[in-house]
Amino acid sequence: MTGVLRPGHVQIRVFDLEESVRFYRDVLGLVETGRDDKGRVYFKCWDERDHNSYIIRQAEEAGIDFFGFKVLNVETLDKLEADLNEYGIETSRMPAGDMLATGERVRFTLPTGHIMELYAEKSAVGNGLTNANPGPWNAASEHGIAPVRLDHMLLYGPNVAANKKIFEEVLGFFLVERVLAEDGEFEAALWLSCSHKVHDIAFVEHPEPGKLHHCSFLMESWEKVLRAGDIMSMNEVSVDIGPTRHGITRGCTIYAWDPSGNRFETFMGGYQPYPDYETITWDWDHFPQGLDYPQRKLHESFLTIVT
Ligand SMILES: [Fe+2]
Repeated sequence: MTGVLRPGHVQIRVFDLEESVRFYRDVLGLVETGRDDKGRVYFKCWDERDHNSYIIRQAEEAGIDFFGFKVLNVETLDKLEADLNEYGIETSRMPAGDMLATGERVRFTLPTGHIMELYAEKSAVGNGLTNANPGPWNAASEHGIAPVRLDHMLLYGPNVAANKKIFEEVLGFFLVERVLAEDGEFEAALWLSCSHKVHDIAFVEHPEPGKLHHCSFLMESWEKVLRAGDIMSMNEVSVDIGPTRHGITRGCTIYAWDPSGNRFETFMGGYQPYPDYETITWDWDHFPQGLDYPQRKLHESFLTIVT
């Protein structure tokens, strides 16, 4: 991996900041790493090295402000910005320091209406373990649900075909899986990877632009996903679906909502694709298995509720 590395941050809107801080810190078990003069609260997952990955701000409406992918270095950032411009995508630069501990960000709007960023620099604060002879976990990994990392986002918006072209032709992603609409041709949903992960980002065709379906957090085991379900119930968190397994990506999962109605996922599993793998296709008739393999069910709430 030498270009785009991973989803590095996402900024989410919430109704009540302090209620949300309690939820993300004590129920989901993220680590609070800072607050800025714009009123934003910064979190990371316990095993992430960089200063922040999940940022919340108070607003009237829930949803996603923007998301950012980390790239290898500043030269890669400059090169990808030039490539985007040459492809016909306008970019702007957010100054270093606009987000805590984060360098300059190259920002642009995707055809689906989402604001995407690339950045090369975010201060490393470590995962609380030493780099020499570390233990496998620490106290932070036991607080709340405690996922190990922000893994991917699923976003809803129009014209996912145009997004696909940008991710494949400019940003170096490859298409891992897709769902075809009833006509057997139109790509209704796409799972794209820039790494060895089964997806780093996914898109679903949807008439309204800029919508968030979920941010996903990686757990270390199926047992930890089930423990996440226990913690959700103990805290009366609204659960959408699961625990179950997707046919698509093979992920083992629970989906639930934060106090503002932003969906999030705690999941584990999947497989490790390479860029030379042929894309896996799900036809519309098998989409219920793709969504929920054991129950073979199209969950109405899962397909229609976005923020
Ligand atoms: Fe997901």
